[in-house]
Amino acid sequence: MAALEIDLTVYPDECDAYGHLNQASFLALFERARWEMLARGPGMDVFTRHGAWPAVRKAAIDYHAAAYPGDVLRFHQTLTHHGRTSFTLRQTARRVRDDALIATAEFVFVCINRDGRPIPVPPEFGEFLNARPAPRGHLRRLTVNGVSLAVDARGDGPALLFIHGYPFDHTIWEPQLETLEGWRRIAPDLRGMGQSDAPDLGYSMATYAADLAALLDTLGVERAVLCGLSMGGYVVFEFLRRWRERVAGLVLISTRASADTADGRRARDAAAGQARDAGAKEIANEMLPKLLAAGAPGPLVERVRAMMAATPVAGIVGALGAMRDRPDSTPLLATLAGIPTLVIAGADDHLISVSQTSAIADAIPGARLVVVPGAAHLPTLEAPSVVTDAIRTLLAGIA
Ligand code: MLT
Repeated sequence: MAALEIDLTVYPDECDAYGHLNQASFLALFERARWEMLARGPGMDVFTRHGAWPAVRKAAIDYHAAAYPGDVLRFHQTLTHHGRTSFTLRQTARRVRDDALIATAEFVFVCINRDGRPIPVPPEFGEFLNARPAPRGHLRRLTVNGVSLAVDARGDGPALLFIHGYPFDHTIWEPQLETLEGWRRIAPDLRGMGQSDAPDLGYSMATYAADLAALLDTLGVERAVLCGLSMGGYVVFEFLRRWRERVAGLVLISTRASADTADGRRARDAAAGQARDAGAKEIANEMLPKLLAAGAPGPLVERVRAMMAATPVAGIVGALGAMRDRPDSTPLLATLAGIPTLVIAGADDHLISVSQTSAIADAIPGARLVVVPGAAHLPTLEAPSVVTDAIRTLLAGIA
């Protein structure tokens, strides 16, 4: 088992008179999991080797479900903030038997020396906790809004921010990232998807939008052209409600403005249950036939399947809840006059119909609609040059 995941058994002496794991015992278990993690990683003495001690400055625990003697809990540790002298660890405890989320906790530490003065966090500690798959190509990790995001950032010039859909990652924009020279292209994996952190809780359109605003702040970008595909479009609408002045232009692809119907909301809950029970592969197999037009090349089909199957279950469940609860953005559309807008629909989209997507173009004054023949829900990959050329035409007007 990886050092960042530690299994601990609940003992009777940690439980109360009703047989539940006592709330106070959680602090000790979270602490044991951290020490065990260090023992299996850089060593329990990683701090003392540097004359440092990690003092807890803040501890917050959310209790989600009861645990009982004999339960084996799996503790997962994630570094969510790494400052010069302080760091924040998020820990989750899930029961191994049924994967039930038992508790989540956040601990803020300050490294101090023997005199109680803050001193730098030992580098081996940060390196150990950041040990994730090595970022490839243009990918880098940035901690924004309390979460570590994988971000593809390349090129110089006015900014383009690319926001993928569900349950995908930034690579659905690969052809556009490669070819839209003259622009600073920024494509994050949203929290819970791709190589970004996947917290257990805290997903909403407002949170995704706040992550993106914080990302732009971190990169020193004041305004950007926002490109959103499907759920990425829902995030764009939320961003517009909050930070319209930061939006220089819009590209909305395979998306819709309306909220979910009652049936749609029930289907989100059913899909979340299925993801919890059967995992991301099952979700991927179910969605795949609806995503690409008939005759899509085999390697593309397999690439999209693998991307979806790699999505963390927490991110899938979180995105489904965020989509279920999103508001109706139809009233927003008429207010967007003055923002140069391109709307793109795949002619064969079975997930979001051409009429739903084209309704956005009808409602935004001055918007241009492009319907891409031979493409379904992912025209950025299915018909990359048609999409890139249409975006280039929009950008020429903006630049
Ligand atoms: C997406 O592609 O982002 C989702 O399929 C959108 C949705 O389910 O509403």
